[in-house]
Amino acid sequence: MTDSLPRTLDLIWDALHQGASDRRHPFHLPTLATRGASDFPEARIVVLRRAERASRELICHTDARSGKVREIGADPRVTWLFYDPQMRHQFRVRAHAEVLTSGPLFEDAWARSNVSSRRCYLAPRAPSSESEHPTANLPDSHVDRNPTLEESEAGKVNFSVLRSEIISIERLHLASDGHRRVRFDFVEDDWSGVWIEP
Ligand SMILES: Cc1cc2nc3c(=O)[nH]c(=O)nc-3n(C[C@H](O)[C@H](O)[C@H](O)COP(=O)(O)O)c2cc1C
Repeated sequence: MTDSLPRTLDLIWDALHQGASDRRHPFHLPTLATRGASDFPEARIVVLRRAERASRELICHTDARSGKVREIGADPRVTWLFYDPQMRHQFRVRAHAEVLTSGPLFEDAWARSNVSSRRCYLAPRAPSSESEHPTANLPDSHVDRNPTLEESEAGKVNFSVLRSEIISIERLHLASDGHRRVRFDFVEDDWSGVWIEP
């Protein structure tokens, strides 16, 4: 176990980078929590699409009509939660989020997305709309097949990039000889780390 703060910060960013690039890594499917419109916090699983140490970014994609987009519009503070059962560590990451529906990052993300991911954005009705029947919320023509690249372009209007900028990262590491916990806050252009009681 490392007890050096700089090495721990390196380890944290390695894990976040792996989570974004390796779809079998447990950090690929974090929980993203927002401040809900009601009094309740809202939490849901998303796919971690990108993690960038230099810009402190965590990115996922979502439907621009979804509840989380509205919630972030009202309050940009979000928390990401990760757990890796093999490493036995949990990360709790606070960030400020924004939703992009145009611009270079948005265009790049759309261009890189594949047709099976794009299929969800063809949903005719906004996510969370009530329905009298269980429904996939897909056009009849695409319930059982992916769109072609050309057909998938119709989903672009519903696509959005949820970009968040990290302000603090807390890591809890479980170990038989005692758990360890650390927090890094980004202050005055640098990370400031402190060990905290587990
Ligand atoms: C494994 C898994 C991956 C998911 N990935 C995403 C994702 O990348 N983006 C997304 O918007 N929703 C994703 N979802 C669906 C969300 O968990 C959630 O149900 C949906 O986005 C509606 O959330 P909201 O109403 O809070 O906005 C995923 C769900 C699961 C189970």
